[in-house]
Amino acid sequence: MSTATVTPPDAEAKGAPKLILDARNVTMRFGGLVAVGDVSMEVREGEIVGLIGPNGAGKTTFFNCLTGMYKPTEGQVSLFGTTIPPKPRAVVKAGMARTFQNIRLFGNMTALENVMVGRFCRTSSGAFTSIIRGPKFRREERETTERAHELLKYVGLGASAHVLARNMPYGDQRRLEIARALATDPKVLLLDEPTAGMNPKETEQAMELIFKIRDSGLAVVVIEHDMRFIFTLCDRVLCLVRGEVLVQGTPGEVQSDPRVIEAYIGAADDEDEEVEALELETTFSAATHDEEDGR
Ligand SMILES: Nc1ncnc2c1ncn2[C@@H]1O[C@H](COP(=O)(O)OP(=O)(O)OP(=O)(O)O)[C@@H](O)[C@H]1O
Ligand SMILES: [Mg+2]
Repeated sequence: MSTATVTPPDAEAKGAPKLILDARNVTMRFGGLVAVGDVSMEVREGEIVGLIGPNGAGKTTFFNCLTGMYKPTEGQVSLFGTTIPPKPRAVVKAGMARTFQNIRLFGNMTALENVMVGRFCRTSSGAFTSIIRGPKFRREERETTERAHELLKYVGLGASAHVLARNMPYGDQRRLEIARALATDPKVLLLDEPTAGMNPKETEQAMELIFKIRDSGLAVVVIEHDMRFIFTLCDRVLCLVRGEVLVQGTPGEVQSDPRVIEAYIGAADDEDEEVEALELETTFSAATHDEEDGR
């Protein structure tokens, strides 16, 4: 993946929202396995883009390529027209933040401290200033603390600032991960299964939070297996299967495409997964009817 600057694509059609994230022909191979094969994705200002696909389709690996956790075998990732090096710190500095499928918080730190950690990439105090705890350090620490409190309130965790992350309910931990990601001041937020393990009420609240984040000016890319959630939330959806984009389009186009259901049923390894896929089919048609009924 090169680190050169690329010219913004011609696709900047008149009136089209600004292109923020542009992933081009991303491929990730592990030995003989093509986990992500030639996937391209554009994300424009104010968009919520969904990424769906059966287990092992390559969704998380694609996020890992976008965020510099993996160096893609081929392809490049640009933010605002500039190719970003495949290094997590450079990606965060450029304006892209993420949450993890398997929550990665510092369990022995409080909610507030976890969010403050996210903020440090935007502070400028060096090691020396930190050791002597000079006025610049103290001012930055005060601002970081204030911002972290604001973000906790923003995600609905204002009352949990001093609770250890490991003692927080699962749904709250997922929201705390979002607050920590927001602390880096991103322009694009990537969410990997933000509602996994949540009950329906928490899922509803997560959806409201993501809409609020979008309305504040961020673009969002979200991986989820909950189809009702995806089809209600997203402006566009990409369905990955065996590392490749099988279908992409509006929620209506994707949910009515028979190849998507087939992909889920075909990917089922055993009877249990097949039952799950058939349940999914019911969800697909329920989501379609909801849309038709204007719900
Ligand atoms: N570091 C790695 N080394 C080798 N293979 C890997 C590695 N990371 C992922 N894979 C493989 O890549 C494929 C895609 O995995 P990935 O976790 O991206 O799928 P996913 O779509 O996120 O699935 P799920 O919905 O279950 O989270 C799988 O076959 C997985 O085993
Ligand atoms: Mg995954």
